[in-house]
Amino acid sequence: MSGTEEKITGGVAHLSVSDTTSAPPSNTPGIYVDEVAGSDTAGNGTEAAPYLTPVAALTAHGIDATLLVRKAAGEEYAAIGGTALKRAKKGVELNEKKAKKAEEQRVRQEKEAAEGKAKDEKRIEESKKIVLTEDSTLPAASKIYKLADFRTKRVRVSGWVHRLRQQKELTFIVLRDGTGYLQCILSGILSQTYDALVLATEASVEIFGVIQEVPEGKTAPGGHELVADHWRVLGAAPGGDDAYTNKLNAESEGPVVADNRHLVIRGEIASAVLQVRAGILRSFRKVFDKYTITEVTPPCMVQTQVEGGATLFQFDYYGQVAYLTQSSQLYLETCLPSLGDVYCIQESFRAENSHTRRHLSEYTHLEAELAFITFDDLMTHIEAVICEAVDDLLLDPRMSAFLYQLNPKFKKPSRPFMRLSYKDAIKYLNEHGIKRKDDETEQLVDHVVGDDIAEAAERQMTDQLGVPIFLYGFPKEIKAFYMKKIVGDEGFTESCDLLMPNVGEIVGGSMRIADMQELLEGYKREGIDPAPYYWFTDQRKYGTCEHGGYGLGVERLLAWLTDRFTVRECSLYPRWPGRATP
Ligand code: 4AD
Repeated sequence: MSGTEEKITGGVAHLSVSDTTSAPPSNTPGIYVDEVAGSDTAGNGTEAAPYLTPVAALTAHGIDATLLVRKAAGEEYAAIGGTALKRAKKGVELNEKKAKKAEEQRVRQEKEAAEGKAKDEKRIEESKKIVLTEDSTLPAASKIYKLADFRTKRVRVSGWVHRLRQQKELTFIVLRDGTGYLQCILSGILSQTYDALVLATEASVEIFGVIQEVPEGKTAPGGHELVADHWRVLGAAPGGDDAYTNKLNAESEGPVVADNRHLVIRGEIASAVLQVRAGILRSFRKVFDKYTITEVTPPCMVQTQVEGGATLFQFDYYGQVAYLTQSSQLYLETCLPSLGDVYCIQESFRAENSHTRRHLSEYTHLEAELAFITFDDLMTHIEAVICEAVDDLLLDPRMSAFLYQLNPKFKKPSRPFMRLSYKDAIKYLNEHGIKRKDDETEQLVDHVVGDDIAEAAERQMTDQLGVPIFLYGFPKEIKAFYMKKIVGDEGFTESCDLLMPNVGEIVGGSMRIADMQELLEGYKREGIDPAPYYWFTDQRKYGTCEHGGYGLGVERLLAWLTDRFTVRECSLYPRWPGRATP
């Protein structure tokens, strides 16, 4: 753009002269304007480079310039008409007014900004001079969830700034300490210190003051608030680009959420899930204790498989091949003659390349093994343990609040759970048009007995039935080597999966082969070398017994309990293919 700078205001080109060297020479009869082919940005008023509008021409060459205008292609240039000239002069005037106004506004805003900055700087400088004095009688520190016992008393509470709202002489903080949330009010000088002015969410602070019931008509977590008389920052948190709220917010998704899991868990939803997780594990332990089932801690580094070689994580163990455990079941079985019925809550590992919402590479596996039971006893026990643990969880008001916060529609499952044999499930699928994909033809076809019911079909059936279902009696070919066969129907096993609506399988269990010969055949069928299993086989040699057990995926149970879309939200630091950070 030569000599002019274009400012488009409301469709009117406004040109301010910044360089006159490109103006036509003084002997030029006039300034050329071509209303079809001219250009207000590239034009300079010569015949070779005419302007597009008379307004631009007058703006660049002065209000008294002589304008020659061409209105249509091929027409001769002619002196501008009187009305058109009047209109163009008005346009120039209007633009000049607008420009003046804009300039005045810019100057005013600049002045205001400078004044605001100076004021803020002064406020900050003055805030640095404020030193809060502290009541020397230090009150007892308390955790937030216990504060109902301290109403009207002075307390000291430490935590993280979960939410922050700053008004003129008031700072409202929702403080979080992991046990709960507390509204705190800093008023007067407390809200004018330097620390108060630069406070950001997620800073850690210590606040002193009196716990007061909130006035009628107002609400706050716990029904009370802390009216502060002293406070201090323990660890600041950044504002600006690095601020917590800039790193993570409701719109964050995918890798951002996964990479920042350490910050995500500070959020209300993620921490509530983790609270329920802790609560349900505590309740399970209580229930196992009630049934005199003893907790053991089997190894995670093993040299045997349980659920098939395809999903083993293998590693080098001092020059030998070893694996991360898939299930502690075999070790639990060895504990029966030692401790009686046993359970463990241990991590299990599956190298499944499954990017589904119910698969993790590492998950928390709650497994139990019971001696001298029948298959019917096993299913009744699984049902009892789950229902009693949920009952116990809901008896705890904090846990119940977390659970209903996450899953307001949660209903305790009614007992007994539906029991559906594998063969009847095949019938159900066919009667309800739930098909499977044929591996060879890729066509959708009916299910037949012997099929390993695919996850999708199983989910569809479970969601249609809408209740917990024990699916039992799977064909031996699709199940693990250790499962006991049904007497009189030896092609099928005393095995069961517990299926929950919206999640699918949360428990897998079975009766185990008690007979030595049958177990050896099981190894053979699955192509397993029995040698490394000598210690497991020995259970059949030294006083065998009928026994059975199960494994429950803790994250899947939580996805059902807390109505989470994926098990990834139910693990502290979830691992799935390609993800082992943080
Ligand atoms: O059905 P699974 O493979 O059974 C066993 O491992 C038995 N040895 C357990 C036993 O009898 N002691 O796994 C049991 C449960 C499943 O029902 C599921 O809830 C969970 O473990 N599970 C997984 N959870 C998350 N991610 C995965 N990749 C899982 N694989 C199994």
